[in-house]
Amino acid sequence: MKFFLDTADLNEIEEAASWGVLAGVTTNPTLYARTGGKLDDFHNHIKRICEIVDGPVSAESVAMTRDELIRDGRELAALADNVVVKIPTMVEGLAATKALSDEGIPVNMTLCFSVPQAILAARAGARYISPFVGRFDDIAEDGIAQLADVVAAVNNYDFGHDVEIIAASVRSANHVTQAALMGADIATVPFAALKKCVQHPLTDRGLDAFMKDWEKVQQA
Ligand code: G3P
Repeated sequence: MKFFLDTADLNEIEEAASWGVLAGVTTNPTLYARTGGKLDDFHNHIKRICEIVDGPVSAESVAMTRDELIRDGRELAALADNVVVKIPTMVEGLAATKALSDEGIPVNMTLCFSVPQAILAARAGARYISPFVGRFDDIAEDGIAQLADVVAAVNNYDFGHDVEIIAASVRSANHVTQAALMGADIATVPFAALKKCVQHPLTDRGLDAFMKDWEKVQQA
């Protein structure tokens, strides 16, 4: 499984890239707003992310009609070679995905919550599909089970083009564990959750023990 970072924060992206684990980035309007970003700097911000990341960078369109989504998608794709246009799973989004994919522009269909949505996204030409996990947990449903269904269903078929499943709305190391066990291609993870994935209490305890023993060696 590859790790994407789910953020628009340049410092977080630079840090994760320095660990050698960063295969891509996903952003959305909420994440950009969280950086204090302004509308007129949005495209430049995406360009800056694309320069740091050696991999696909999903940039989301906030348009609602197919024509606007297509226009927006073309503008976003022109920003850098590694831009992936992120489009919501809805009727207008499917039409825009078909049009953009036909032009060779990769699309990540987002806000995916069901197997039929995922299959339709793949049929429309989506290069990536993003089933959300945490949002199901928010409404006391099993987000991991939903993700597993999408992975199994999509893997049943050859869509005639590469399709990768991005486990999205990931909130914890357990979500990452479950996504890896079921064979999700990618997990897009917030920076705080990624840091938690690196840690384990037994690693910390092991380090403490090493340090104490090493002090003894130094004093001997
Ligand atoms: O990748 C999608 C993600 O940004 C949504 O996460 O935590 O708002 O459900 P969340």
